[in-house]
Amino acid sequence: MRSFVRRAGRLTPSQARAIESLWSHFGIDPPSTPLDLDTVFGRHAARTLEIGFGDGDNLATLAARHPERDYLGVEVHDPGVGRLLLRIEREGLENIRVARHDAVEVINHWLAPDSIDELLVFFPDPWHKKRHHKRRLIQAGFLEQLARVMPPGARLHLATDWAPYAEDMLITCDASPAFENAQPGGGYAARPDTRPTTKFERRGLRLGHEVFDLLCKRTDWQPPQGDQPSG
Ligand SMILES: C[S@@+](CC[C@H](N)C(=O)[O-])C[C@H]1O[C@@H](n2cnc3c(N)ncnc32)[C@H](O)[C@@H]1O
Repeated sequence: MRSFVRRAGRLTPSQARAIESLWSHFGIDPPSTPLDLDTVFGRHAARTLEIGFGDGDNLATLAARHPERDYLGVEVHDPGVGRLLLRIEREGLENIRVARHDAVEVINHWLAPDSIDELLVFFPDPWHKKRHHKRRLIQAGFLEQLARVMPPGARLHLATDWAPYAEDMLITCDASPAFENAQPGGGYAARPDTRPTTKFERRGLRLGHEVFDLLCKRTDWQPPQGDQPSG
């Protein structure tokens, strides 16, 4: 069950050119064994993973702000990948790498245990209809898969403008043995000023939606021995 349908949307000529010319340096193709991110980035640094980066504005802004960290983005929408690569080129960003692939597979098969210190999922597709809720990315099983690549203490930051999904995220995180709410007293966090606004956040605000941030911390829970990731 996929959390996305490939949206139509053609690459502009400059996006196509950016993918063509920059992919070999900034893109990551499906590996046959889990990635050694020190080799991928050419150094050892704290790492942030953003799932579903859309147009890449958040990822590029954070990467420019924090040259000391490395940023890995996962997105399946090609025009978004093209836009991000154009911005990487324009701003000369060196600390970003991009996977054009289903994040569920990236988490389960591409990444080594404990390789991500911070994980961001901003405005994931809300899948409004009840019969589609099973497509939502944030679910109990997926949180356990995320936990494998995050060491204890690592931070998970979720945001959404769809109140019923926010409520569901809160319940799911509270019930997960792998994460605890990092907000003193629990509940939603105030919007951190450090989070750049994204296209989908602006859209939600135009529609009059409230925006919810949820900050969680990886606990020291370990998956039962012998559990194999699926996906
Ligand atoms: C509603 S958009 C939000 C984009 C961006 N985070 C923002 O706030 O503007 C959700 C994005 O997640 C991507 N996406 C959904 N499921 C994904 C998956 N399993 N792997 C990678 N990307 C995914 C979609 O292609 C889409 O671009």
